[in-house]
Amino acid sequence: MDLDEEIQQRLEGLKIPSHIAVIMDGNGRWAEEHGLTRLQGHAAGRRAAKRLVDAAIEVGVQVVSVYAFSTENWSRSENEIEGLMALIEEALRQELKELQEQQVRVVASGRLSQLPSSLQELLAKSERDTADNRDLTLNLCINYGGRAEIADAAAAIATDAVAGKIAPSEIDTELVATYLYHPELPDPDLLIRTSGELRISNFLLYQLAYSEMVVLPVYWPDFDASSLLEAIEEFNERKRRFGARPS
Ligand code: FPP
Repeated sequence: MDLDEEIQQRLEGLKIPSHIAVIMDGNGRWAEEHGLTRLQGHAAGRRAAKRLVDAAIEVGVQVVSVYAFSTENWSRSENEIEGLMALIEEALRQELKELQEQQVRVVASGRLSQLPSSLQELLAKSERDTADNRDLTLNLCINYGGRAEIADAAAAIATDAVAGKIAPSEIDTELVATYLYHPELPDPDLLIRTSGELRISNFLLYQLAYSEMVVLPVYWPDFDASSLLEAIEEFNERKRRFGARPS
């Protein structure tokens, strides 16, 4: 896909964030406004996720993390949960070949062992088959919770401490980061949330400490390359100080 000329012009001179994290919010409200079912809203959300990946490659983003299913989403109806799991699996199965051609590396973050076994197997295969791809890393956050990730890291650190592999005095913020699901990924520079809500909703709690947040008014199914550019433009207006004094 070629970005249209207007977007190419808007891109000129902009600093592109290396890692963008995205809370894809608003599928349900979009569906309601269009007289559709929630699952049809998620299906439209899937098409928007594809537009995000295509546009991210075009603008030169290195990593995109998408919040596809949270540890809290299990409280939704059985119908919606099953539909979402099937949709995520179908999307990955259908897109894997193109993701390969686009040189996208797929990784998954979350408590994956609680997912349907067919999805676990597909995620493992996708990670294996795309491991050498270098254009974009797509981090699929599924059954993901920031608190769960930190708790899992704490449990693994405790296990290693009891086994004598690390001493409690060695535990600092950098060591904790090496126990997260994908320690090789840089922290997000930019968090985008759609549908106007001003919340982090348990997404990447450890990694988002100094990320810039841009909230777009559009519902996720309406997200497109222009929305991504809008967020990157707003990111470029921010002065990132990482807690230091203004210079
Ligand atoms: C939030 O909207 C969206 C989700 C919980 C699911 C996100 C899933 C997708 C976009 C589809 C699959 C994606 C991939 C990457 C394969 P909501 O249901 O909370 O919307 P609402 O707040 O308007 O009800």
